[in-house]
Amino acid sequence: MSKALVAYFSAEGNTAAVAKRLAEAAGADLFEIRPVEPYTEDDINWRKPLSRCNKEFFGKKDVPIAETVEGFEGYGLVFIGFPIWYYAAPNIINTFVKGYDWTGKRIALFATSGGSDITKSPDKLRPFLNGKGEIVAAKLFSAGADEAELKAWADPLIMPWKAQGQPHKPLEADITDKAIEYNDKFNRMRTMDRDFPEEQK
Ligand SMILES: Cc1cc2nc3c(=O)[nH]c(=O)nc-3n(C[C@H](O)[C@H](O)[C@H](O)COP(=O)(O)O)c2cc1C
Repeated sequence: MSKALVAYFSAEGNTAAVAKRLAEAAGADLFEIRPVEPYTEDDINWRKPLSRCNKEFFGKKDVPIAETVEGFEGYGLVFIGFPIWYYAAPNIINTFVKGYDWTGKRIALFATSGGSDITKSPDKLRPFLNGKGEIVAAKLFSAGADEAELKAWADPLIMPWKAQGQPHKPLEADITDKAIEYNDKFNRMRTMDRDFPEEQK
């Protein structure tokens, strides 16, 4: 089984909390997508027309990232987490995606938000993948999502053969099950026979 990576960006801590719990729950490596220039409170004030976040969003700007993922080729499944900004992933996620070759990789998006859903994010992010990789899931979580909830979401992504309902027990077990079922029926019939008084047969 190939390795899984949880890569996330978080400006205010909500997505970071979910990402850390998800990495624990999924047994995945963790990578923080950090801007070269950290966001200040003023930078992310979208109510100010000329704030950094507005300039980046409306100007479709790239956001330089401080570090790169080591050994990216080794990951088969990459979870990408972010806060919803302007109804989709922030520009820094587009920059992150553009920086790697996604050939053969599965991608699962997760996010936190102030109420918007994540449904617009896959289509908005896809052009930056250059036709490579496949977005296989996208889910919004509350900042307080616990490990059990995250594990329930991540497990079928990590072990897709289970989700696809392929046989996960050996053939012998199936045969044994059938034999037990048959014997059960047979025993029930025999019990009925025994319990029935002779004269009423
Ligand atoms: C610039 C900016 C834009 C945002 N746009 C949206 C939005 O369109 N819809 C929404 O529900 N929340 C929006 N939010 C709220 C964040 O998605 C929410 O607070 C999120 O949990 C923050 O995650 P973080 O703590 O990981 O940064 C926005 C926040 C910022 C700073």
